[in-house]
Amino acid sequence: MILLTGATGTTGQETVRQLLEKGAPFRVMTRDIERAKTILGPDLDYVAGDFAAPETLAAAFDGIERLSLLCAFAEKMVSLELNAVAAAKRAGIRHIVKMSAIGSAPDAPTKIRRWHGEIEQRIEREGFAYTNLWPNAFMQNFRRFAPFIKNDGVFYAAIGESRVALVDVVDVAAVTVAALTEDGHEEQTYEITGPRAYSYGECAEILSRILNKTVRFESVSMDASHKALVDAGLPASLADALIEIDQMFIDGFGAPVTDVVDRVVGRPPRSFEVFARDNTDSFT
Ligand SMILES: NC(=O)c1ccc[n+]([C@@H]2O[C@H](COP(=O)([O-])OP(=O)(O)OC[C@H]3O[C@@H](n4cnc5c(N)ncnc54)[C@H](OP(=O)(O)O)[C@@H]3O)[C@@H](O)[C@H]2O)c1
Repeated sequence: MILLTGATGTTGQETVRQLLEKGAPFRVMTRDIERAKTILGPDLDYVAGDFAAPETLAAAFDGIERLSLLCAFAEKMVSLELNAVAAAKRAGIRHIVKMSAIGSAPDAPTKIRRWHGEIEQRIEREGFAYTNLWPNAFMQNFRRFAPFIKNDGVFYAAIGESRVALVDVVDVAAVTVAALTEDGHEEQTYEITGPRAYSYGECAEILSRILNKTVRFESVSMDASHKALVDAGLPASLADALIEIDQMFIDGFGAPVTDVVDRVVGRPPRSFEVFARDNTDSFT
């Protein structure tokens, strides 16, 4: 049996949709089953569980062979996911499909990648079969810009004209589903990107064409971007972590394109044009 964690989130919802489409049996762990039902529908096989309450995980992990491990971007991500890894070991789970991020390593230059790298290292050392998912930045992050695009036709970020091989979570979920339901994905690290690298200026042009109105991108300073994140309610330390990613993109780290979606899913990854067309409602 497969257990999905993080199923109510951005990637998880799409993973649920694709697993249902494929007819693969799976269970969903959530901290709040009633809330999850409003997001994912009433008829899934739900179990309650919270990485922050390790005593809930024994029942949630009972009888599971493959675990999709995904936790929100949070200050305590490492301790939360390590609680899950310890519980998975006790429950005899065989294979962990771990949501990480491109370039994860315990000694990576940015905080989020170090966090993911530490968790990946523990999974490997504990002797699980593993599949590490390393997506580039999600196209769905553009939904954060939606109020600015809607109201003023402009969005802001601190990445200048650097290019990023943005990936649609539809493709991230497709790779996740393959790793959870097929053989041959063990001891693999999948660097998941879109079909090409886009500058945010190009994304603005694409949005302008598809939304049929002028959308501009304005690059701002790191300080201004940090302040906007904190003003929006993010703790300063997490804003620091996101700013580090912008710096990585400026240094060109986000630009390389891989063939993982073609190889694993058997079709090309979705373009930003397709994402924009499918998400027109979010931006108008
Ligand atoms: N955004 C990007 O561009 C990007 C790029 C590469 C990698 N990533 C990685 O993707 C991951 C985030 O994915 P996402 O955006 O799909 O997630 P998300 O939308 O933020 O959803 C987070 C999920 O985490 C679960 N969760 C939170 N706290 C939990 C806890 N204490 N115990 C159990 N579950 C908990 C929530 O489940 P319930 O509320 O139902 O319990 C929720 O479904 C992070 O690891 C991030 O580093 C993101």
